[in-house]
Amino acid sequence: MENCLPRRSVLYVPGVNTRAIEKARAIACDVIIFDWEDAVAPSMKSAARKTVADAFGTGTFLAREKIIRINSLGTREFEADLQAAVACGPDAILLPKVNSAHDIQRYAYARRQLKREDNTALWIMVETAAAISNLNSIIEVAPGAGIKLGCLVLGTNDLAKETGVSTANGRQYFIPWLMSIVLTARMNNVTVVDGVWNDFRNTEGFDTEARQSLEMGFDGKTLIHPLQVAPANAVFTPSDEAVADAKKIIAAFDRPEYATAGVIDLDGRMVERLHLEQAQRLIARMEAITTQPQTA
Ligand code: COA
Ligand code: MG
Repeated sequence: MENCLPRRSVLYVPGVNTRAIEKARAIACDVIIFDWEDAVAPSMKSAARKTVADAFGTGTFLAREKIIRINSLGTREFEADLQAAVACGPDAILLPKVNSAHDIQRYAYARRQLKREDNTALWIMVETAAAISNLNSIIEVAPGAGIKLGCLVLGTNDLAKETGVSTANGRQYFIPWLMSIVLTARMNNVTVVDGVWNDFRNTEGFDTEARQSLEMGFDGKTLIHPLQVAPANAVFTPSDEAVADAKKIIAAFDRPEYATAGVIDLDGRMVERLHLEQAQRLIARMEAITTQPQTA
């Protein structure tokens, strides 16, 4: 995968909640999303812009990446949010309610109007029926529009609201959509993180859903409460056994007798060079996880 930054734990913090923002500084999540959309009441939008700008201006956060979720295209907040978010200098701006490739072009146009060159990536919410249906074209249009696409973020609450499909019972009816999103993300080499678990006091339920996310191939999970951070980090970190196995595969292919081998017998198991690549990727991911830079 092109981008090796871990995105196991992606914590939303309401952009007006100064107490939660202060608390978030010391939380060891991989990513923080400062939210100006759903978690902020209409009358508090302007206050949220100021609160987050102040937070960016002072002190540090343990998280590796700081993201700002702005309000969607076509809302009365969009332009003020975009301008304020860009001025904060986040790692990415997260755009909700993206429906089509045209939305990415509209976003790119609005960015160009600001006449600011920077490295801020675009993350997009996949939270509408149209987004799922148009996902490949949404992703493909980005580079040509001058947009660096960083990550896809599932919005399962909005999807349930729009479609009337239940998320109960292990999300059984959602699974085809979730898997098609993961597939499209992989096809385009983009990271993808799962939606939130609302019932945050039910830690067992969270753990089960996070394990399901991992098995489905998600890179991490979006979170709403500090209680969910350590369990998400644990679930999405490769186990000691997986790391030991990866090292064993790498060591085997390093042996002179296997220098030109395409496939080897490793303790009675067939191991091919594709497994070597998988093992190298796992070790790279582990190295990225064990380096914890503090963001300014
Ligand atoms: N990030 C950082 N800190 C948080 C937090 C978050 N997302 N959620 C709660 N906290 C803090 C609280 O401020 C509190 O801090 P304190 O001990 O210094 O007072 C502590 O964690 C315990 O919080 P708790 O009392 O258990 O929860 P709460 O009732 O204050 O908040 C929610 C519950 C759900 C309202 C809150 O977790 C929240 O707002 N989550 C994010 C919601 C969001 O952004 N939604 C949009 C995307 S889906
Ligand atoms: Mg949403």
